[in-house]
Amino acid sequence: AFQLVLARSGRTLRVATEQSVLDVLREAGVQVPVSCEQGICGTCITRVLEGQPEHRDVFLTEDERACNDRFMPCCSRARSARLVVDL
Ligand code: FES
Repeated sequence: AFQLVLARSGRTLRVATEQSVLDVLREAGVQVPVSCEQGICGTCITRVLEGQPEHRDVFLTEDERACNDRFMPCCSRARSARLVVDL
């Protein structure tokens, strides 16, 4: 599990191992545009302000992944204990 911090509201949400970030956002009533929900289309791209994503999509390039400044909440997770996102 890891903590997902929503920078705009200051809320901290817990993402359990069996949940996706998108599941947790939906439960919290936070809207993110989505389409494929499989890490392919790039629709859900979200800015990361702090922490290190664990990229599981096939949309970002290696260079983009290495920047740690955006991720795909429909399928990607966090490598760090805390991920602060621009939501
Ligand atoms: Fe398509 Fe997330 S919804 S990459």
